[in-house]
Amino acid sequence: MAGTIAFTVNGEACAVAGDPDDALLGTLRDTLGLKSTRLGCGLGQCGACTVLLDDRAVTACDTPLSAVEGKQVTTLEGLGSRDAPHPLQTAFIDEQALQCGWCTSGMLMRAAELLRREPHPDEAAVRQALERNLCRCGVHNRIVRAVLKASA
Ligand code: FES
Repeated sequence: MAGTIAFTVNGEACAVAGDPDDALLGTLRDTLGLKSTRLGCGLGQCGACTVLLDDRAVTACDTPLSAVEGKQVTTLEGLGSRDAPHPLQTAFIDEQALQCGWCTSGMLMRAAELLRREPHPDEAAVRQALERNLCRCGVHNRIVRAVLKASA
């Protein structure tokens, strides 16, 4: 049944009308205009839609609005800015860790979760953290290098 769901997005309180079973992804993109979070598979399998929910990486396409009530959501828009990019964003540019870019916001959010939990991961830890995020262009090695660079 539709209602109002209140939560915080990128540090700002919001309340949206919607069905508790609606996917967070559509609310972020279509209601709140936060377009960095991408739709890939829509099945929770590719990681393109990864955001942070209270500092835990989740896939927004299969996270219902009911799961975010009262919680903090962080999207790529809340990670860094054009004037003050997050170290991960700088490293992704330096290492050219993207091709088409569709997976990039999800990769960055998954990597951000890793670095919050483990500031200096080794390569195996980076690969393990990113194993649920797919890059169809095949730049995984550059992405891993970028995450390691950001954590150095
Ligand atoms: Fe959500 Fe693929 S679009 S995991």
